[in-house]
Amino acid sequence: MFKQEVYVNRRKSLQTKLQNGIILILGNNDSSMNYPSNTYHFRQDSTFLYFFGIDLQGLAGIIDIDNDRHILFGDDYTLDDIIWMGPQSSMLEKASLTGVSEVLPYNELFKIIGEAVKQGRKIHFTPPYRGENIILISELTGISPNKVRESFSEDLVRACVEMRSIKEEVEIDEMERHMSVAYKMHTTAMKIARPGTTEQEITGIIEGISISGGGMVSFPVICSVRGETLHNHYHGNKLKRYDLLLVDAGSESPLHYATDHTRTTPVAKGFTQHQKEIYQIVLNANNAAINAAKPGVPYKEVHLLAASVIAEGLKSIGLMKGDIETAVNEGAHALFFPHGLGHMLGLDVHDMEDYSEKFVGYDNEIQRSTQFGLKSLRLGRRLQKGFVITVEPGIYFIPALIDAWLKEKKFENFINYKKVELFRDFGGIRLEDDILITESGARILGDRIPITIEEVEAIIGKK
Ligand code: GLY
Ligand code: MN
Repeated sequence: MFKQEVYVNRRKSLQTKLQNGIILILGNNDSSMNYPSNTYHFRQDSTFLYFFGIDLQGLAGIIDIDNDRHILFGDDYTLDDIIWMGPQSSMLEKASLTGVSEVLPYNELFKIIGEAVKQGRKIHFTPPYRGENIILISELTGISPNKVRESFSEDLVRACVEMRSIKEEVEIDEMERHMSVAYKMHTTAMKIARPGTTEQEITGIIEGISISGGGMVSFPVICSVRGETLHNHYHGNKLKRYDLLLVDAGSESPLHYATDHTRTTPVAKGFTQHQKEIYQIVLNANNAAINAAKPGVPYKEVHLLAASVIAEGLKSIGLMKGDIETAVNEGAHALFFPHGLGHMLGLDVHDMEDYSEKFVGYDNEIQRSTQFGLKSLRLGRRLQKGFVITVEPGIYFIPALIDAWLKEKKFENFINYKKVELFRDFGGIRLEDDILITESGARILGDRIPITIEEVEAIIGKK
């Protein structure tokens, strides 16, 4: 945990942002895998981690704004529990780590929230995403389970987004420290990506590095020679000599801050000419985006800049044609780059996505586009100092999409379908870095994982 005052200050700050009512923050509980006592690896709720920090199940916290009470709810472990689990700290000890002086048994939560509901007081909660917590909120508030998610407090969500978007020094330090684990995961994948190795072996090894480094992976590893499938979790392929291996993987720091990087590496000892050409365009887009990111600039503009670099690059090798500004405005580049440039990063790999991207990535000024490609951009609003975000442009050749567009003759004036056909089996390349928005620009967190053609070839040359 961070020092006690970090959590005390955050709760105070949250309290002042809301006018009245009770803020209810539920922790997570163990979730069963295949029978009740065989559970998934425990993951605490990120809002609970942010405001209370305690990485254990069976807890809930409230901030009663009207009565200025901060209460932690939970039960001490029994001797029976301790026989199976080993020595456990008491609820009072746990509460003191997060600077809460009032501790009540878990069941008291029903009494306190029940009374508040009777008095017609506002109960603020964020949209729950686990079935158990949906049911619990329903029992606590009387809201029917199928109405719970939509009954969240927009004021609370907006306040949490405002606070969690700007990373504090302690958070930046924690994230930066953990970047060395991400570095090791990705450089190891580059080194072991040889003909005959399987995606599954590489996935297992890099997950192991994440766990050895302090935490589980921050999302299921994407490790595939079919990189054109954006979130490819199939790991059954054996690597072949001229394949490109796309690895999109991240690790959670001991305090659950996520890393999220993508590198795309030749399985052979070097890139082929085609691979080099496409790779360099993606790298140019990544560099241009990082150089353009700074406070005040809408990330949507940075996304469109990356899209223009991609489209210009594709034009230079004959895959696109015509006026590139118009092509990007109309969305023709999305045949090759159908996703967004990046997202917020923090306690969640898509930070705060449980609150909805509408509040995290967009605001009254900048709303989500409905255009294919641009609609997948998770973060469009103006950047601010202290944001930590990903920059992840890519170029993909997705046979089903190419066929669908060709059938409609879509953007024939901008896409050279004859040439695209030659790349049908190419796969995909994505290059993703994690950056911090600084006073006047942006910087990559941690040492940059090898990314230039020369750097990557130097690593894989040693295979
Ligand atoms: N790294 C996975 C994603 O950003 O969706
Ligand atoms: Mn990402």
